[in-house]
Amino acid sequence: MGETAQSTVQPDSLTQASTVGLDSTTQAVAMTPEQAEAVAAGDALFKGNCAQCHAVNDVVVGPALMGLDKRRPERWLLSWIKNSSKMVASGDEYAVKIFNQYGKQQMPSFLLSDAEIRQILTYAKSQEATSVAEYSNAVAVVK
Ligand code: HEC
Repeated sequence: MGETAQSTVQPDSLTQASTVGLDSTTQAVAMTPEQAEAVAAGDALFKGNCAQCHAVNDVVVGPALMGLDKRRPERWLLSWIKNSSKMVASGDEYAVKIFNQYGKQQMPSFLLSDAEIRQILTYAKSQEATSVAEYSNAVAVVK
């Protein structure tokens, strides 16, 4: 008795994982609800503002965004995303270097809040390639 009633609802964690759009081949990381929320918000912001020029694991128009937290401090990233031209103009060494490296193509300025940019960065981090093959593939394109 009562056995048939067992095929009930999926656990919350599963529905959450699919909302966030985790790639099942690369991700099996447990996230807190807050992190999952940031990733979902960052995903939407990324698709709306950045995806035409960036992917996390591949060079598109701009560099692959993997490993950003290892390349630049967060405050640099916040200033860059808000107004990259200003940073290039200010003579920031790294800014000038990537600007030249990517054919002096100007990245647009974004009226995003720090919180929104952090969500994008959290999203990008969550999508980083985890296999060596994927990683070296993407890095190989960056000269
Ligand atoms: C129109 C194309 C374009 C769009 C849209 C764009 N970018 Fe960029 N981005 C670039 C280019 C090109 C570069 C390389 C530097 C340069 O040429 O100024 C770059 C560089 C960067 C860098 C430095 C990467 C590194 O390896 O140091 C970050 C971080 C970045 N973009 C984040 C973003 C984010 C976040 C968004 C969305 C909010 C975004 N970009 C939207 C074109 C774009």
